[in-house]
This record gives sequence, C-alpha cells and structure tokens, in this order.
Amino acid sequence: MVLSPRLTPFLEGWRAGRPLVVLTAYDAWQARLVELAGADLLLVGDSLGNVEQGRDSTANVTLDQMVYHTRMAARGRKSIPIVADLPLHSYDDPEAALESSKLLMAAGADAVKFEGTPPGIAEALLGAGIPVMGHLGLLPQTATDFKVRGKDAAEAAQIAAQARALAGAGCFSVVLECIPTDLGQTITQGAGIPTIGIGAGSGTSGQVLVFHDVLTLVEGRKAKFVPRGYTNVGAVIQETLHSWAEHVRGGVYPSDAESYH
Ligand code: KIV
Repeated sequence: MVLSPRLTPFLEGWRAGRPLVVLTAYDAWQARLVELAGADLLLVGDSLGNVEQGRDSTANVTLDQMVYHTRMAARGRKSIPIVADLPLHSYDDPEAALESSKLLMAAGADAVKFEGTPPGIAEALLGAGIPVMGHLGLLPQTATDFKVRGKDAAEAAQIAAQARALAGAGCFSVVLECIPTDLGQTITQGAGIPTIGIGAGSGTSGQVLVFHDVLTLVEGRKAKFVPRGYTNVGAVIQETLHSWAEHVRGGVYPSDAESYH
C-alpha cells in the first residue's frame, strides 16, 4: 500500500506524540475552513446523513452522495488529507468495497473508512493499495442504540482485539467511538497506529468531531462529548439573517450604496 504524501504529516504528528485533530467537512467551504483551522485530517463522514440531510441515521446515505460530497471537499482543500466514509452496503463484500473505494479515491479521498471488522474488507482494500482507517466501538451505520460500548470486560476485549486486527492488517489509523476512557487508552497503548477518539476520552492519539457539532449548527440534544463552551455559530447565523430580514422589511436594505446607478 502506498500512502498519499498528504497523509505523511498526520503520521509524523502521531510519531512525535502530538495530539491529532480531525474534523468532518462535507463541502468545499467547510473543507477550506477546517484546513485553515489547522486540522491534521478531514473526514467526509457519512454523518452528513444527520447534519446535512437532516435524517436521524446514516443508514440511508448512498455511495453517490459520498462521492459527490468528497469531490466538493477535495475542491476546497489545499493539502489536508481526506478520508471518505464507505456508506452502509457499499462494502458488503470485498469486490463491492474495492469498487466503492476506487470511486471515493477518484473523487479526491486519500483513504477510506468503514465500520467494524467485516471479513476480508480491510485486506482487499489494503491489497489494492487503498489506505484504510478503521472505526470501532459504537458503529452508527448499524447501531440500534447510542449507548457507550465496551463497558463490560468481554465487549472491551472484543473491541481491543478488533483494533489489533485492523492494525495488523495494515490500517493506518482507527476511529474509536463512544467507549470508556480506560479502554481508549489501553487500545491506544497497544495499537501501534494512531487512534482517533470521539467520545473515547483523553487517552487516544487524537480527537474527531463533526463540524456542525463544534459550531452548534444543528439543534437538538448534544452527546456528552460535544463541547459546550464555543461560540454558538448557529445562533450568530440566525441573528444575522434576522437582521437582514428586518432591514428589508424596514426599507433599510438596499441602501443607495448597495444599488446600481
Ligand atoms: O461519519 C462520521 O462523521 C464519523 C465520525 C463520527 C467519526 O464517522
């Protein structure tokens, strides 16, 4: 497998012990903002089903949609590496996974991510030279609840074994979603590859969050791991749009300076 040179700084950062910063982005301008903010890696996540499409699940996101959003994000980035999610049913068998991944790579991804450890998928992609990021713990594509995973010893051991298997197969990194801090730390110590946590505590190699969650662009219940302290950009947008609407209604907009003569 040949890693894109764009992934080199991400891995160098990990080797140097720097906490890695990953954010999702789904279009050109979000990608630009994420890169300008200094993130190490950009994820075109199938969370776009939630935050862009307004669905309550990622399960109906299609491969065509992932390709479209990956192409937009790639257009907006300069050099930040892009990982694109393989949506549910686009990797039902190794052949499908390979064809799907080729489309995402052609759209501008530097690597792909899939959930769990379906047999033969990582091996098929890595064997074809496609870099792979794993995703363990809570797996939103198939989850029927959003409870923390790996709280009991058996499930914790299973997730740790899956992480070792993905690393052993050659995955360059793994996302750990909604697991106890201790488990995140244990997996990180033994994995030999960067672990990127979301609701996995402070012991992972890095953190990933959804763009809309950091900025509070969507309404609704926030998961425990979503930070509360930053500017509510959704409220700022709403206020700005409301001001403009009031200016239109009050005859203030357009002013003479905003008109052609
Ligand atoms: O789809 C996504 O955004 C993800 C992150 C939550 C890791 O997979």
